[in-house]
Amino acid sequence: MTAIDTSARLAIDGGTPIRTRPFAPNCHIGGRERELLLDALESCNWSGFRAGAGANVRDLCATPSSIARDLHDVRYLGGRYVRLLESMFAARTRTTFAIGCNSATSGLVMAFGAIGLEPGDEVLVPCMSFHATATAILAFQAVPVFVEVDPHSFCIDPRDGALKITPRTRAIVAVHLGGIPADMRAIVELARRHDLKVIEDCAQSLGARIDGVEVGAIGDAGVYSLTETKSITCGEGGVVVTNDPRIAIKSRLIRNHGEGAADESWGDDELANVVGMNFRLTELQAAVAVAQFEQLDERNEVRNENANALIEGLRPFPQFVPQQLAANAERACYMPKFRYVSGASMPSRDELVRILAAEGIPLVAGYPRLLHENPIFTRRIAYGTRGAPFNDSAVRYGTGTCPRSEALNRELLWFPLVNPPNTTDDMRDVVRAIEKVFS
Ligand SMILES: Cc1ncc(COP(=O)(O)O)c(C=O)c1O
Repeated sequence: MTAIDTSARLAIDGGTPIRTRPFAPNCHIGGRERELLLDALESCNWSGFRAGAGANVRDLCATPSSIARDLHDVRYLGGRYVRLLESMFAARTRTTFAIGCNSATSGLVMAFGAIGLEPGDEVLVPCMSFHATATAILAFQAVPVFVEVDPHSFCIDPRDGALKITPRTRAIVAVHLGGIPADMRAIVELARRHDLKVIEDCAQSLGARIDGVEVGAIGDAGVYSLTETKSITCGEGGVVVTNDPRIAIKSRLIRNHGEGAADESWGDDELANVVGMNFRLTELQAAVAVAQFEQLDERNEVRNENANALIEGLRPFPQFVPQQLAANAERACYMPKFRYVSGASMPSRDELVRILAAEGIPLVAGYPRLLHENPIFTRRIAYGTRGAPFNDSAVRYGTGTCPRSEALNRELLWFPLVNPPNTTDDMRDVVRAIEKVFS
């Protein structure tokens, strides 16, 4: 009996899958992680932080990261690996201050608190992001106002932002989604015209640049993530960078129970928004993060090469429209994103994801909901059950309020595993599976 060749039949219909070997997960050891972790472990100084540093806490918190690295016994600013990591971030981004913390979510809270948000203030936020970009604003009883994203870059559309400015608007958040920089020229220009602070959410874009400048160093503050899916990781962690000493001081105070370090001489501005947080990064995490940071360029190069292999491989299929990079920008690919514009007789986006999953290719079908569609906003239930902090706000949420981004999200697809040690050969399998579907 002749064996039937099942290789051309789709795996979902009983054919042979393109791939049975899983792609490598993001978290992998590529440098000195073991050595530095063991060093931190054996130091028996696993946190290094202490709260309530006494009278000189304000001066300490104004110390540039390049100097803080070499200070001895400054326990308010954390241990030596935390300060080493911070000095590395500051040097790379050419900022004066880098402040490590236990997640980018905490870093966003620090940054929003440090720019002095007041209850009822409005902050412009792209509606397409991870939800922490918006919920960190709520921590100070301020209110996110969601803005459409640009259909090419998938990052905040500054023209829609301009339409949503009110007398209450205080800040604008740029999320460099997927490692593609947002249009910072237009955002900074808009912010200047309306006296707004600019926070860059760089959780997905460590190492990306605009006109040669690292993202995070362009606005008033930038926030990076070190969680496990990101380009470098220590399990969980985050870093805030800024050139503004007022933002640095307050971020450091928010990170480490600053209210306990305050005395009667502090002004109201100094006390404001410093309420009871512990966002410290441990020495064990910081040691791993230092080792990973040493590999950042190498890792970003692999990610970019893999993303380019996918984009090139899918070029013959015009139904896949890649997220676009501006001519003056350099990407640090996090996960390559595409619009899937399905034509007649093509599978729908969600069918395609199922077909490819059967072929051994895990693609992600957009966000389950955009930020403005989350119940915390649509039902206006954040703190308590009586509408705080939205009671006083005319901001509208819900499906239909950012229709262009909602349409984009219905077409959105991304491939999450361009990280090393996956290679362009692995990406070839993704392309082969797509060729199989559309041939
Ligand atoms: C755009 C964006 N902002 C913020 C965060 C929050 O980061 P973390 O998990 O470090 O709190 C993430 C991701 O996890 C993110 O992708």
